[in-house]
Amino acid sequence: MKAIVLDGQPGFDSLKLVERPMPQPRRQEVIVRVTATSLNYRDVEIARGTYHTVFPLPLVPLSDGVGEVVAIGEDVTRLKVGDRVCSTFWQRWVAGSFDMAEPAYQRGGPIDGMLAEYARLDEQAAVLAPAHLSDVEAASLPCAAVTAWHALLTEGALKPGETVLALGTGGVSLFALQFAASAGARVIVTSSSDDKIVRAKALGADAGVNYRQYPNWADEVLRLTDGLGVDHVIEVGGPESFAQSLRAVRRGGQINVIGYLGGTEGSINPLDIFRRQVRVRGIPVGSRASFEAMNRAIAVNRIRPVIDRSFPWTEVAAAMRYLESGAHFGKVVLEH
Ligand SMILES: NC(=O)c1ccc[n+]([C@@H]2O[C@H](COP(=O)([O-])OP(=O)(O)OC[C@H]3O[C@@H](n4cnc5c(N)ncnc54)[C@H](OP(=O)(O)O)[C@@H]3O)[C@@H](O)[C@H]2O)c1
Repeated sequence: MKAIVLDGQPGFDSLKLVERPMPQPRRQEVIVRVTATSLNYRDVEIARGTYHTVFPLPLVPLSDGVGEVVAIGEDVTRLKVGDRVCSTFWQRWVAGSFDMAEPAYQRGGPIDGMLAEYARLDEQAAVLAPAHLSDVEAASLPCAAVTAWHALLTEGALKPGETVLALGTGGVSLFALQFAASAGARVIVTSSSDDKIVRAKALGADAGVNYRQYPNWADEVLRLTDGLGVDHVIEVGGPESFAQSLRAVRRGGQINVIGYLGGTEGSINPLDIFRRQVRVRGIPVGSRASFEAMNRAIAVNRIRPVIDRSFPWTEVAAAMRYLESGAHFGKVVLEH
C-alpha cells in the first residue's frame, strides 16, 4: 500500500510517498481503508520540526482520519467489516480522567497516523462516524472538534444563556462556535478578518471583534457583555493573548488553555486569576467517551463541520503550507 512518511530533515519537503507492506490486524485490531484525513496545526508543527515534542522518524503523519473497516482481528467485538469509523487521538484514553491517556499512544506521533491508503487501529481507538456527514466532514472531527467539545461540554458544563468567546476562526474555534450555538449559548468570536467575522455570524456567532483592529480586544468583549465578561474562553492564542482573555472573562468564568498560535512568550499576573476566581484549565483533546457524546449531539443537531478546502492526500505539503498561511476558515482536509 501507499503511505506518506515524514523522514530525514524537518520540513514539508521531507514528506515522501512510499510503498509499505499492507497492515494485518492483530488481536482486537481493525484495518481501515482510509477515505479522508484532516490537518491540525499540530501536524504542521510536527512536519516542520517545531512541535514541543520530537518524535522518532520515519513517521506516518496525521491524527485525524475516517475510513471503512475492511478486516478485523481476533476478538474484535466493537466493530465489524463495513463500519465507517474515525480514528481517535489518544489511543488509550477511552473515558475517565486524563491519567488514562498514555503519551506514547498519540496517533500521528509518536505512533503512525492516518496519511496512508490503509491504517491499523486498536478497536478501542475508533468511533463510528456520524451517518449524515461526508467522509471529509467526518475526518475533521478527531482532534479539533473533540477538543472544543471536551472544553465546553465535558469539562465546562456549558449552559444555555452563557457566553462563549472563541479566538480566531480555525478548526477548534469554529467547532466551539457550532457546539455553543446549538447548546443555546451566545458566541463572540475574534478574528484578524472582518470577512471571516461575517462568515462566523452566518454560522451562529452573535458578535465579532477584529483583534488586528483592536489589539486590546478585551475592551470590546467587555463592551459587548455589559462590562461583565464571558463565561467560557476558547484560548488558542497562547501567553500573548492570555492577558486579554483574562480581562475578557467574567468573575468565576473559565479559560480553556488550548493553543499558542501567537507564540509561547508573554506575562501573566496570577493575582488576576486569584482575585476574580477564574478557572484556568489545560485541554488535551479529549477521551473517546467525549468523542462519542459529541457525535450524538452532532447527529441530533445535524451539525456539519466547516470545510474550507480539500486537497488530494498526496498533496499534503501544499495543504500544510495553506494551513500555515492562515487563509483558511474552518478545516483543511485531504481526500484519499
Ligand atoms: N490542546 C489541544 O488539545 C489542542 C487541540 C487542537 C488544537 N490545539 C491548538 O490550538 C490552536 C488552534 O488549532 P486549530 O487546529 O484550530 O488551528 P487553525 O485551524 O490553524 O486555526 C488558526 C486560526 O486561529 C487564529 N489565530 C491565529 N493567530 C492567532 C492569535 N495570535 N490569536 C488569536 N487567534 C489567532 C486565526 O484565525 P483568523 O484568521 O480568524 O484570525 C487562524 O486562522 C493551535 O495552537 C493548536 O496547536 C490544541
